[in-house]
Amino acid sequence: MAVKKARIIGTGSYLPEKVLTNFDLEKMVETNNEWITARTGIQERRIAADDEMTSDLAVKAAQNALEMAGVTAEEIDLIIVGTITGDFPWPSTACLVQNKLGAVNAAAWDVSAACSGFVYALASAAQYLQNGHSKKALVIGAEILSRIIDWEDRNTCILFGDGAGAVVLEAQEGDHGILSSHLHADGSHWQLLYQPGFGARHPASVSGIEQRLPFLHMAGNEVFKVAVRSLYDVAIEALEANQMTAKDVHLLFPHQANRRILDAVKKRLNLEDGQMYINVDLCGNTSGASIPLALDEANRKGMISEGDVLMFDAFGGGFTWGATLLRW
Ligand code: UT7
Repeated sequence: MAVKKARIIGTGSYLPEKVLTNFDLEKMVETNNEWITARTGIQERRIAADDEMTSDLAVKAAQNALEMAGVTAEEIDLIIVGTITGDFPWPSTACLVQNKLGAVNAAAWDVSAACSGFVYALASAAQYLQNGHSKKALVIGAEILSRIIDWEDRNTCILFGDGAGAVVLEAQEGDHGILSSHLHADGSHWQLLYQPGFGARHPASVSGIEQRLPFLHMAGNEVFKVAVRSLYDVAIEALEANQMTAKDVHLLFPHQANRRILDAVKKRLNLEDGQMYINVDLCGNTSGASIPLALDEANRKGMISEGDVLMFDAFGGGFTWGATLLRW
């Protein structure tokens, strides 16, 4: 029996309506548009409405992807959501999405790998499609980071945004689909990027709120250095595994963390202008949502053709990092 590949047959995304610009942030914390633009490349980000939940963003992105794929929710047998800002600590956001979509035949779970969440979720789904346990899967990255941001901390609140992206995958014979996935983790750096409360280590308490424990904490400088190295290393690993070089990649979709990180990776990989897709300027860092959001944007602009080699390249809290190489 021919080995099947996991092929993306539809993409979708959703951004909340509310735009938060650098000028809006100038009124909230001691910062300015010049600093944010120079240090991050971010100009604006989207913020979910009070009555919008992560599962709502995920469902809208998923519906767009299903529509493009021409697949019904009932045909989906697997849903994996990469998120660190789910509606609840549990049950999983994937289960809420399954219910809202009416994907009654799908198993559903979340993957917690921070900004690498989509790449981790995609690699997991690909295994099920390749080994015949799944025929059609939905992989989603969805985040409402604005709910775990300390809006008094200028070091972090300027960086993040909300959004969702989704892909529909089908097990297909032939040359098209995911060629390989490469995942890594180094848990020794967990304290450099994390949300201290309110899990089992620091259960909910009034003093915990005073200590800002429910909010994202980050040592930005240290994260920056490891991110550049890891994004480069795993990109090379994926290329070498497929006897390719960076020249073979039509479009690279990096996790949209910070323009300076992306420029450094682009330079190290010797990529031409136009070989790396960047939308961090208008979306900010949307963590697990950033790669599928960017992919859908590029796809709907007609920037991807059948046979193109694409790469997804992610880095995030944990630390986690990973790359996917695929033929469209
Ligand atoms: O998805 C992975 C998640 N994380 C990331 O991608 C983040 C990676 N790190 C970064 O993007 C960068 O480290 C930051 C953008 C967060 C910070 O840029 P930086 O060039 O590393 O700046 P820094 O932390 O070294 O801070 C430089 C100065 C500091 O002032 P002093 O101590 O030199 O007087 C900060 O207090 O900039 C100050 N600063 C700000 N100034 C104006 C920090 N945040 C701001 C701000 N506005 N928003």
